[in-house]
Amino acid sequence: MSVARMLTGDRPTGRLHLGHLVGSIANRVRLHHRYESFFIIADLHMLTTKNTREDIERVADNAREMVTDVLAAGVEPQRATFYLQSAVPEVGDLNTLLQNLVTVPRLERVPSLKEMARDAGKEEMPYGLLGYPVLQAADILCVKGQVVPVGRDNAAHVEVTREIARRFNHLYGEVFPVPELISSPTPTLVGTDGRGKMSKSRGNAIALADSPAEVRRKVRGMYTDPNRVRADVPGSVAGNPVFAYHDLFNADQAEVAELKRRYQAGQVGDVEVKEKLATALNRYLDPIRERRARYEADPGLVDQLIVEGTERTRAQVRQTLLEVRRAMGLTSAYSRIRRRAERSRARPVAPA
Ligand code: TRP
Repeated sequence: MSVARMLTGDRPTGRLHLGHLVGSIANRVRLHHRYESFFIIADLHMLTTKNTREDIERVADNAREMVTDVLAAGVEPQRATFYLQSAVPEVGDLNTLLQNLVTVPRLERVPSLKEMARDAGKEEMPYGLLGYPVLQAADILCVKGQVVPVGRDNAAHVEVTREIARRFNHLYGEVFPVPELISSPTPTLVGTDGRGKMSKSRGNAIALADSPAEVRRKVRGMYTDPNRVRADVPGSVAGNPVFAYHDLFNADQAEVAELKRRYQAGQVGDVEVKEKLATALNRYLDPIRERRARYEADPGLVDQLIVEGTERTRAQVRQTLLEVRRAMGLTSAYSRIRRRAERSRARPVAPA
């Protein structure tokens, strides 16, 4: 029996941070041992909100950094296929075909799109952004992905993909597996400012590539219980991002329990709680830093990996597109016209 195929990935907009790690990367590291794994560098998706020349110029470097971060987080290069979306133009062809299998009101109900439009400062919904989930369906279906591990904000996109796959199979015959969503076990990570999810553009992120000193600086500046004006005032642990991070990243959970007890009793200062968090986070990030250093010593290796992966993916996608066109009857439409043209070529072109 062949192993199921997994597809996941990110837009190449910058370095990965802790939110990506708990939201999806840790899941990928775990799952890529179990599935044949494709990792998309979704630069066409990036264009739905960032499409200046400067944004596009950064894709090549961002792609390399992002793949390096994923490898540093523990994905083994020989077990994964990394590819650049825009270098597989057949994805766009499939996107065009799938657009007819979903309605505008259906897409308008996808909550993440409004959020993305707002975050990008768009007053009106760009056509491409509305089509974001359809393009994602094209990504997933063109490699016949069966499992898609993504963070919460992407769950609705996978649902749209499932609907499109079913609709296609119903109209034209079984071509696509209906992919399964694997949602991340961890809820969205709050940012260091305690005001909603961690995001680079909101400036509340700790990057996987941050130095130990940077991590310490960011942790010192973290939002905590604002009612706690002095160390002897009992503090609140619930909804406090410092403790949310302690829960997730501190390997010494006995220390965390003790800190919580003292915090709630007004027996520990924020400084100590934060220093211990910075130490725990740096310990957590150290193995990632070590692996990254090895890849950064030979960055050409990561580029090679992306090129090989893109070629492999493109061959697979071409195959799928052929199947799709056959199932839809598009290949036979053109061959019929060609046959007729050939037959008529035997006769004079225009009546005299
Ligand atoms: N939408 C994903 C993101 O938030 C990126 C992405 C594009 C993706 N195509 C995909 C994820 C296919 C999983 C499968 O950046």
